[in-house]
Amino acid sequence: MLRQSNEHVVVTGITPGSFYERLYTSDSLHLVCSSNSLHWLSKAPEDLFRNLIPAYDMDKDARRQRHRLVLEAYAKQFRKDFTNFLKLRAKELVSKGRMVVSLVVRRSDVTATKFSYLSRTISQILSVMVSEGVIDKEKFDSFYVPVYEPSSKEVRETIEEEGSFSIKEMQVHDPTTDMNNALSTPSKFVNLLRALCEPILVQHFGDVMYEFVSAAERHWSLEGNLLGPYAMLAISLAKA
Ligand SMILES: C[S@@+](CC[C@H](N)C(=O)[O-])C[C@H]1O[C@@H](n2cnc3c(N)ncnc32)[C@H](O)[C@@H]1O
Repeated sequence: MLRQSNEHVVVTGITPGSFYERLYTSDSLHLVCSSNSLHWLSKAPEDLFRNLIPAYDMDKDARRQRHRLVLEAYAKQFRKDFTNFLKLRAKELVSKGRMVVSLVVRRSDVTATKFSYLSRTISQILSVMVSEGVIDKEKFDSFYVPVYEPSSKEVRETIEEEGSFSIKEMQVHDPTTDMNNALSTPSKFVNLLRALCEPILVQHFGDVMYEFVSAAERHWSLEGNLLGPYAMLAISLAKA
């Protein structure tokens, strides 16, 4: 029970549960913060898994042919999920409540037809594991990395279309600008990938982490890069 006081009381909370579901009671929040998370989709893009379309075809020509369709399915799922997130938080915020969100976005110099670097890197590593017979091709074809890096424009349009919030400020920051590449080593790369995706890999493929680590280290020695260029978008919103 809150002690009686004439001073304003600030109550903060971090709540377990999916942010794609209701987390708080209606009209109960003054400020919502969501940091570095909304590029995670609620699930694999519906248009792909319903129609059994692989996100990353092992065959290069098939991959090129389906590229647009795959990207559009990811973009559509992002719009659906982000719209749902905005609707849910709008119900939980009081009138004129504020919300600050940050998420990974595509850098403006990266062409709109590029697949998410994270998804592509993981898919490339897994496809090597298929070639080596470590994982089944059918399993690989039904695996979707549930991450989408939208452009700032897509984020802005989704907020405007949904209509519950006005945008007070949007800022894009490139965290890779000051990154010292000398500090990027195979073990850091592999640890980062593990931290990002071990639970979803193990859930889908079983415990293939030893083989995944080995394939990821080899991938790093060929590509010599972390996860490619990306940017962070921070947005300050007010409930309309
Ligand atoms: C990169 S971490 C960011 C963690 C922290 N917010 C920060 O800024 O340091 C992304 C987090 O989002 C969580 N996440 C992804 N999808 C989620 C969902 N639908 N509901 C709640 N959390 C989710 C992941 O479990 C992970 O902890």
